[in-house]
Amino acid sequence: MFLPPRTRLWASLSRSGAPKRFASTKSLKETLQEVIPRKQEQLKKLKAEHSQTVVGDVKVENIIGGMRGIKAMLWEASVLDPNEGIRFHGLSIPDCQKVLPTAPGGKEIIAESMLWLLLTGQVPTEAQTRQLSLELAEKGDLPPFVEKLIDSFPATLHPMTQLGMSVAALNHDSLFQAAYEKGIKKSEYWSHTLEDCINLIARLPALAARIYRNVYKPGTPLPPLNKDLDLIGNYSALLGFGDNHNLTEYLRLYIALHGDHEGGNASAHTAHLVGSTLADPYLSYSAALFALAGPLHGLANQEVLRWQLAMQEELGSDVSHDQIRKYLWKTLNSGQVVPGYGHGVLRNPDPRFLALQQFCDSRPELEQSSIVRLVKKTFEVAPAVLKEHGKTKNPYPNVDATSGCVLYHYGLREFKYYTVIFGVSRALGALTQQVWARALGLPLERPKSLSMDALEKLIK
Ligand SMILES: CC(C)(COP(=O)(O)OP(=O)(O)OC[C@H]1O[C@@H](n2cnc3c(N)ncnc32)[C@H](O)[C@@H]1OP(=O)(O)O)[C@@H](O)C(=O)NCCC(=O)NCCS
Repeated sequence: MFLPPRTRLWASLSRSGAPKRFASTKSLKETLQEVIPRKQEQLKKLKAEHSQTVVGDVKVENIIGGMRGIKAMLWEASVLDPNEGIRFHGLSIPDCQKVLPTAPGGKEIIAESMLWLLLTGQVPTEAQTRQLSLELAEKGDLPPFVEKLIDSFPATLHPMTQLGMSVAALNHDSLFQAAYEKGIKKSEYWSHTLEDCINLIARLPALAARIYRNVYKPGTPLPPLNKDLDLIGNYSALLGFGDNHNLTEYLRLYIALHGDHEGGNASAHTAHLVGSTLADPYLSYSAALFALAGPLHGLANQEVLRWQLAMQEELGSDVSHDQIRKYLWKTLNSGQVVPGYGHGVLRNPDPRFLALQQFCDSRPELEQSSIVRLVKKTFEVAPAVLKEHGKTKNPYPNVDATSGCVLYHYGLREFKYYTVIFGVSRALGALTQQVWARALGLPLERPKSLSMDALEKLIK
């Protein structure tokens, strides 16, 4: 077993089929049981004392501009500052890299420690992280009917469509829905929701990897889930990259960093909106995945790589800044966006982009990679070109500017699949919020819409 000696002693001897348990640690659920009453109290106080306090105003530009900038949602796990980027319960990305447990033998933060932080606002111990890894591995097998469903999809169906449909089908086993049908108290919603969310996150690697194998490596056998591995270690192994340590580490970092980006982005917001109807986590997250599948959102990582490879093909590997500048103008003048640049909220380079660049800079093989070098060189030129172009409010790269090229270098080259990896990741934040929405009893979302005539009347 991979556990360090101290933790190894804690592994309990469950041979009875009951979940194994690491003694001397509070479980995720127990930790949440402690945290939830404090948050419920905080919300109660906000409601009682500040229901009528004004925190912003709504201009016509917000209404016709995709609701940009309107403060209109509660979202517990993270807050995005336009200039400094994302913070998870107050921790910046470099903070997380300092304090969150990694996988045994790895250096990068992992999905389990990020999930724990997002859900509880606390940094898990190493033992808690391992306990969660084990729980996820034990719950990660797919129901046979879902395996059959995935196997029935044509290989030509976009992997994101396959992912969204399969996640929706998992609602067959929703514990929340079953409990709701029996009639449970509102105060019990969150614990059934948590079970669903953990089961869904646990099953995502097997689900996403099965899609990958069917589409790109048909006929190759999927290994069983390895209880000694973390969630992404298993995902990498299921994809067929288990002995590619560099790729596995990159996947860990990418998936942890991408887990949450506050609530207003299209996928997170979709999960929240659908969840606010009391749809179970499977249905809510399935809807989110279809929002993620749009090219202005999650599909951008596939688009970036397609665009950079086309640039490489046209200009060759050893390009000058000036050639890249001309290529950028060609893209812009043909009416297309430069993929991987700009952001709905951020106004500086995305710290997730910087963290991934740091990963590249720390590895000689990536420093030598022609596609990684091209992405870096593009970053040296693109902000100035986009500023001169003068349209985008943020001329800097977002996380997708670099995410795909590393996968490509390490051998995961099927870029139509990249958004699926994003989909595995974003579940961490979107499902965290679903638990909190239930724990806090958040209501059905129902903003007010106006027609242009009604808006003009209001202006007069
Ligand atoms: C992310 C994105 C959708 C944000 O959109 P937004 O909030 O509307 O951005 P802005 O307010 O800065 O847009 C203002 C204008 O600049 C344009 N613009 C924004 N980013 C641009 C880019 N990367 N290249 C060219 N033009 C861009 C917009 O299309 C818009 O043009 P319009 O007025 O003709 O409609 C946008 O920047 C984009 O399309 N980026 C490329 C795709 C991408 O990387 N997506 C991943 C996001 S994490």
